[in-house]
Amino acid sequence: MQRLMRVVKAVLLPLAVAAVMTAVHAADVRPSVPYVPTPQAVVDRMLAMGRVTAQDYLIDLGSGDGRIVVTAAKKFGTRGFGVDLNPVRISEANDNARRSNVTDKVAFYQRDLFETDLSQATVITMYLLPRVNLALRPILLELKPGTRLVSHDFDMGDWKADESVRMDAADKFSGAGGDSDVYLWIVPARIAGVWRVQLPVSGKLQAYEVTFEQQYQQISGVARVNGRAVKIEVAKLRGDELTFSFVAEVNGATVKHEFSGRASGNEMTGQASLSGSLMAARVEWTAERAARTAAIPPAAAYREMVY
Ligand SMILES: C[S@@+](CC[C@H](N)C(=O)[O-])C[C@H]1O[C@@H](n2cnc3c(N)ncnc32)[C@H](O)[C@@H]1O
Repeated sequence: MQRLMRVVKAVLLPLAVAAVMTAVHAADVRPSVPYVPTPQAVVDRMLAMGRVTAQDYLIDLGSGDGRIVVTAAKKFGTRGFGVDLNPVRISEANDNARRSNVTDKVAFYQRDLFETDLSQATVITMYLLPRVNLALRPILLELKPGTRLVSHDFDMGDWKADESVRMDAADKFSGAGGDSDVYLWIVPARIAGVWRVQLPVSGKLQAYEVTFEQQYQQISGVARVNGRAVKIEVAKLRGDELTFSFVAEVNGATVKHEFSGRASGNEMTGQASLSGSLMAARVEWTAERAARTAAIPPAAAYREMVY
């Protein structure tokens, strides 16, 4: 039974919807997604993975009967809204919000998710389809770094999730049961480019050049210290927070540099640990972007590919 449900989820559901979408495509209207509610246990897991709190603003894209937005408001006091094209779903969602006494926190709009302003969101949830996720991807990548995206069942192609989990969902597909995948992405800051990093080493201000390459949240790079290139050993980016390290010769001594900090537009600030046979220090560092390179992939290409 589990196997059958996996086949339904992985093959038949996307195929059925692909047929609908092809027809919709031909009529030059936005793609649609059928209504399949997320089981409550999966809703709870989505909110837990998104680390949703009262401070968040949650938007559910294709909100159905509103269960994700209403649960977040009821459990955590989260504000937010849902959008759905189907007026019946909007009416169900509003009833749901009234019954749960959260109408002061949430709203539901009959609106195309592709025409929705997402800039207010700190968390976005969705249970859509692979092709719709791919069409949304460039829009989502433009959101504020650190915005959490939680998707039920469908991934984002080569933008690998920061976290994922598979769970049993006994009441999925109107009680037929199955399993559910939940994916979490953190929108990464765009840090690709050449940065001028400044920090004091042994009381003397040093200027390094660090070049980052970026594919979604994966970063790698090279640092140039006193004219010599050294590979960045460990580099991690989560939202706007980054860490990276390298070993370089400074003033004739080998020094391990471990940076942690935050990126904001064309600036970075943070702290660095410097350690070597002759020194151990913790210092403040700053960086300015000298040149920006494309963070892969360029947004527009994907919209064209999907439509
Ligand atoms: C699979 S259901 C998910 C419902 C709800 N988010 C949940 O997880 O229980 C997808 C919903 O998206 C809505 N939908 C499909 N295309 C849409 C679009 N372009 N804009 C807004 N809503 C859309 C459908 O009407 C449907 O209610």
